[in-house]
This record gives sequence, structure tokens and C-alpha cells, in this order.
Amino acid sequence: MNIGKTVLITGANKGIGYETAKQLGDIGFTVLIGSRNEQSGREAVAKLANEGVEARLILLDVTNQSTIDSAVHQIKQEFSSLDVLINNAGVSLGGATPPSQFPLTDLKETYETNFFGLVAVTQALLPLLKKSPRGRIVNLSSGLGSLTYNSDPEHEHAQFNLLAYNSSKAAVNMLTVTLAKEFKDSPLKINSADPGFTATDLNGFTGPGSVQQAAAIVVRLATLHDDGPTGGFFDASGEVPW
Ligand SMILES: NC(=O)c1ccc[n+]([C@@H]2O[C@H](COP(=O)([O-])OP(=O)(O)OC[C@H]3O[C@@H](n4cnc5c(N)ncnc54)[C@H](OP(=O)(O)O)[C@@H]3O)[C@@H](O)[C@H]2O)c1
Repeated sequence: MNIGKTVLITGANKGIGYETAKQLGDIGFTVLIGSRNEQSGREAVAKLANEGVEARLILLDVTNQSTIDSAVHQIKQEFSSLDVLINNAGVSLGGATPPSQFPLTDLKETYETNFFGLVAVTQALLPLLKKSPRGRIVNLSSGLGSLTYNSDPEHEHAQFNLLAYNSSKAAVNMLTVTLAKEFKDSPLKINSADPGFTATDLNGFTGPGSVQQAAAIVVRLATLHDDGPTGGFFDASGEVPW
């Protein structure tokens, strides 16, 4: 059913992005592996190909506009449209430094990747996504981006008072809401995903969840039917409060 469909995943050389590529490849998608590092991107593509997945490397640093432009050009030349964009690339900088002392350099650097880079990639690829009859955008957010969870001292996320990371994911959520409003009368569906606390490089492999569990909600939002939601925030159990 998904044969001939294309998905670009940013930061797909490892972690949740790689596993998402594997799961979408397994159900027939051609997966475009966005990677800022050529070697690890090539290794990921080779590993996926060994597992029977149709995968291509797209060199893409979300903070570098010229690599974004080349990626768009490459996809346009080869496929002419794009069915799914998964904005997965993300960083967490500055550790647990209290907000009152948080280094502005780390704050800005986090936003360059998690928010400005994500917006730049999305804007550049929208013309190709609009050519798909069922365009889907999945923005990797986090429960840590939820204002509701952050303001509840009893919530398990309350211990992670990370100014840069948490606020950048809240900003991603606002992109989801505003963009979904702009495209409400089109086939495009745009949602935020919370993959849950997952063992990856991002957190020194401290998360309790597996990448297999984490990728499931991303895959679900990437393959929504025409009557599916847009402008929402979801984890494995359903809607996440903003
Ligand atoms: N793990 C969790 O518990 C968790 C929870 C909620 C949300 N998330 C979100 O899930 C997404 C994936 O994270 P992960 O846990 O799988 O972490 P990860 O294993 O560290 O993977 C992050 C990916 O993003 C890439 N990346 C970072 N900066 C980039 C840039 N400027 N341009 C292109 N790629 C860039 C990394 O590339 P390099 O290999 O080159 O560094 C890597 O491929 C992130 O958005 C994260 O915030 C994770």
C-alpha cells in the first residue's frame, strides 16, 4: 500500500529517527535518510538496505540552509514530490543548568536545531509535500515541551527543568498548531509526536523506553488516514496536554 511513497526523516542515522526509517521501510516506504554526517548516514543506509528497506542518503544539516536547498533539489529531481516529512533531528544542550543561569549560547544553539532548523526544513519542503495527495508532517516534540506537565509539580517530568530543550519543544508544538491552521483546508496533516523517554544518545541511554516503542507513534502519525487528526500532540496512549 505504501509502495512508491517517500518519507524524509531528519537525523535518521541513529536513534528514534533510524528506527522510524526501519519501521516505515518495512511497510513499503522509500526512506530518505537525512544525516548531517556522511559516514554515519551511509552506514545507516547500508544497514537498512541489508534489511530489505529501500533507503537513500540525503546529506542534511538542519542548521545549514545550503544543505536544505540541496536536499530539496535532490528529492525534486528524483521523486518530484514528498509524501511524509519527519522532523526528527534534535539536540539537548546546557544540561540541568537552572533557567536563571542558563547560558544563552546553549539556548540559541538548541533553538537553531530544534526550532529554526525544523522550520527551515519544513518551509523548504512544503512545495513538494503539497504535491502529495496525502502529505503528512510529524514534528518530534516531547512531553517535556508540555506546559501542563511542566507546571504540575507532581508530574514525573517536573524534575527535568530544562529551559532550552523544553521551551524549544513547546515552540515546535506552536509551529504544529499554526501550520495546521494554515493548511486546514488541504490534505496535509501536521502533528506533534511525543515518543516517550527513550534510551538514545540524546540522554546517554538513560531512558526506560526502547526506540521500537518510541517510533510507533511517529509511524502512526506519518501514516494517518484522510479522516485523521491535524494540529494535535500525541503519544502512544493518545492526546498529550499542551
Ligand atoms: N530520547 C528521548 O527520550 C526523546 C524523548 C522525547 C523526544 N525526543 C526527540 O526525538 C528526536 C530524536 O532524538 P533521539 O532520542 O533519537 O536522539 P539521538 O539518538 O541523539 O538522535 C538525534 C539525531 O538528530 C541529529 N541531529 C542533531 N543536530 C542535527 C542537525 N543540526 N542537523 C541534522 N541532524 C541533526 C543527530 O545527528 P548526529 O548523529 O550527527 O549527532 C541524530 O541523528 C529528537 O527531536 C528528540 O528531541 C527524544
